[in-house]
Amino acid sequence: MTPPRPTELAHTILHDAIREGDRVIDATAGNGHDTVFLAECVGAAGKVLAYDLQEQALEIARRTVAAAGFSERVEFHLTSHARMAEHAERGSVAVVMFNLGYLPGDDHAFTTRAEETLAALDSAAELLHTGGVLTVVCYPGHPEGAREGARVEEWAHARTEEGWRVAKYAMLGTLRPAPFLLIARKG
Ligand SMILES: C[S@@+](CC[C@H](N)C(=O)[O-])C[C@H]1O[C@@H](n2cnc3c(N)ncnc32)[C@H](O)[C@@H]1O
Repeated sequence: MTPPRPTELAHTILHDAIREGDRVIDATAGNGHDTVFLAECVGAAGKVLAYDLQEQALEIARRTVAAAGFSERVEFHLTSHARMAEHAERGSVAVVMFNLGYLPGDDHAFTTRAEETLAALDSAAELLHTGGVLTVVCYPGHPEGAREGARVEEWAHARTEEGWRVAKYAMLGTLRPAPFLLIARKG
């Protein structure tokens, strides 16, 4: 078995964590690949809340989701993921997924930023029910990504003192700092 990329490992882990009928969140919808994956996992009775700041990205995500036949299961929000607490009850969410950074080949002005990401992570922590799972893929290969990744890892580390179980996964031997995945289960 070849070690999977962080984004692939996130899917493998979440596939086991999500039950039919669950309410889950895609905090960074982008082109909608993760949104479709989540919509498939929650089934017809479930719901995915999907966030992106870019209208263009959300339009593509909408089309990707429609092509997969899952439009009914997804609620799109053209706003920052820092506002997710406005759309879900505390303790009602099974999974929150973040894929940070910017869309490949896209305007870097829309990269995620540490302060906003940390605010969104605080909200995600409140919305998750006990036993719920948070995944975050960080990209420390560019300067803002390195700063953001360090802050996110610090944030995740602090959760272990609140009874969460947290792990980190990354490739070794890469030329630039490699993307890494944080997996956190709320205790
Ligand atoms: C790496 S891409 C996500 C890829 C996506 N998960 C997919 O499967 O195609 C990161 C996305 O986060 C979005 N983003 C940046 N800041 C955001 C914020 N504060 N709230 C929500 N989305 C944001 C960007 O516009 C970009 O589309």
